Amino acid sequence: MVKICCIGAGYVGGPTMAVIAWKCPSVEVVVVDISVSRIAAWNSDQLPIYEPGLDEVVKQCRGKNLFFSADIEKHVSEADIIFVSVNTPTKTQGLGAGKAADLTYWESAARMIADVSKSSKIVVEKSTVPVKTAEAIEKILTHNSRGIKYQILSNPEFLAEGTAIQDLFNPERVLIGGRETPDGQKAIQALKDVYAQWVPEDRIISTNLWSAELSKLAANAFLAQRISSVNAMSALCEATGADVSQVSHAVGMDTRIGPKFLNASVGFGGSCFQKDILNLVYICECNGLPQVANYWKQVIKINDYQKNRFVNRLVSSMFNTVSGKKIAILGFAFKKDTGDTRETPAIDVCKGLLGDKACLSIYDPQVTEDQIQRDLSMNKFNWDHPIHLQPISPSSVKQVSVVWDAYEATKDAHGVCILTEWDEFKTLDYQRIFDNMQKPAFVFDGRNIVNVDKLREIGFIVYSMGKPL
Ligand code: NAD
Ligand code: UGA
Repeated sequence: MVKICCIGAGYVGGPTMAVIAWKCPSVEVVVVDISVSRIAAWNSDQLPIYEPGLDEVVKQCRGKNLFFSADIEKHVSEADIIFVSVNTPTKTQGLGAGKAADLTYWESAARMIADVSKSSKIVVEKSTVPVKTAEAIEKILTHNSRGIKYQILSNPEFLAEGTAIQDLFNPERVLIGGRETPDGQKAIQALKDVYAQWVPEDRIISTNLWSAELSKLAANAFLAQRISSVNAMSALCEATGADVSQVSHAVGMDTRIGPKFLNASVGFGGSCFQKDILNLVYICECNGLPQVANYWKQVIKINDYQKNRFVNRLVSSMFNTVSGKKIAILGFAFKKDTGDTRETPAIDVCKGLLGDKACLSIYDPQVTEDQIQRDLSMNKFNWDHPIHLQPISPSSVKQVSVVWDAYEATKDAHGVCILTEWDEFKTLDYQRIFDNMQKPAFVFDGRNIVNVDKLREIGFIVYSMGKPL
């Protein structure tokens, strides 16, 4: 029986390993983490992350060939294949602060592997890492190897949150990078054999290590670039009377461009796009390529511009002041079908409005009050550094209340901001909402999900990204 151990029981480690266990009954999979509470949650009825379909997969396999454990050293030492899926946040201090990836968690995992291993291992980079990380990891492992052989593979993950299970069941591609030596190729084959149990072989591609590492950064940069491109167009649409949805549709019908990922929004969020582009920018700078670095930096600048633009539009529409006004925030997660708030545009929008002294009433079906308060009181980039995750008092941002119902959030509000495209926001009774709001009643749709004409008929003043005013 092949034994797999995955270090890091997060948004990637948990779902990917659960799916491997489900699809490969003859493989034993153990997911380990330094966070004892996270492991306890994976072993409970209330999983630590919300992801459609995840509960079923975990419940089917847990205790059979899928285990979650805090006994890291034991399971690492017993494994044949070790996935490392720890967080790789942006550095907040020192060389490269604000851009470079912080590999502290990765390095400590690698050193621990070297310390406890008693047999040869395949070590798989699952985390998104700077290109050439495998070289550093190889050095750490081989210089501490005591004769044990390691093969490092890069197997970046392309799942998106909210559709993780679907993405893992039916991946468009699985990418495996390895050394071009006989041992390297053997290791690639061993990992291919795992995926081949459910992924068609022509979708499993192998490359050299550096191409695999860089492909992951490139894929996220390209995806984010599409959003910044359409968001940049949304500003021009508003200035000219064009409608960004019509423009996206017309542009996306060109098969060379394609229709996906062209929804204008208040800005992209999530734990990875910004971090990975900053990481790419830093790598370009370190390699003496400032023009390339500046090109990619612009994707983030447009994203920041879009979030600011949204806040400015809201404040200027509401007679240049939101001081003391109640603004309902519908949606706080960075996208629908997840409770994840990492780098959600809602944080920037809420902070912008709080800066103008608005009173916020926030509702998101999957995000807790504690999480929202923590997000609104934390400095940029600190969220992914566990040291900062101290519990804080939920009343720390006084102008914020968190409620469990969209109607409650919007009652007596002057304006409504839609910041996450939850399906339930499409079918709200907007007449009822209008009747209970202050007048004039404003709606600022950061996700283009409401029917603008219908809402205007009700009496709302509506602003929708990239739509005629
Ligand atoms: P996460 O923060 O949810 O999970 C990481 C886990 O690693 C945490 O639970 C943490 O406690 C644990 N950890 C850190 N250091 C450890 C150590 N030394 N030993 C044991 N456990 C340790 O992060 P995530 O969202 O799962 O992302 C992990 C990696 O995958 C990142 O590099 C990210 O860029 C990449 N990625 C994420 C996604 C996504 O959708 N979230 C998708 C593709 C790739
Ligand atoms: C993204 C990629 O899609 C995954 O392939 C990748 O594995 C992952 O990052 C990662 O490396 O972490 P994710 O961030 O989970 O996945 O979600 P996306 O669906 O990509 O959405 C990212 C952000 O872009 C969200 O805030 C979303 O609302 C926004 N978005 C997306 C738009 O504003 N417009 C769009 O057309 C699409």
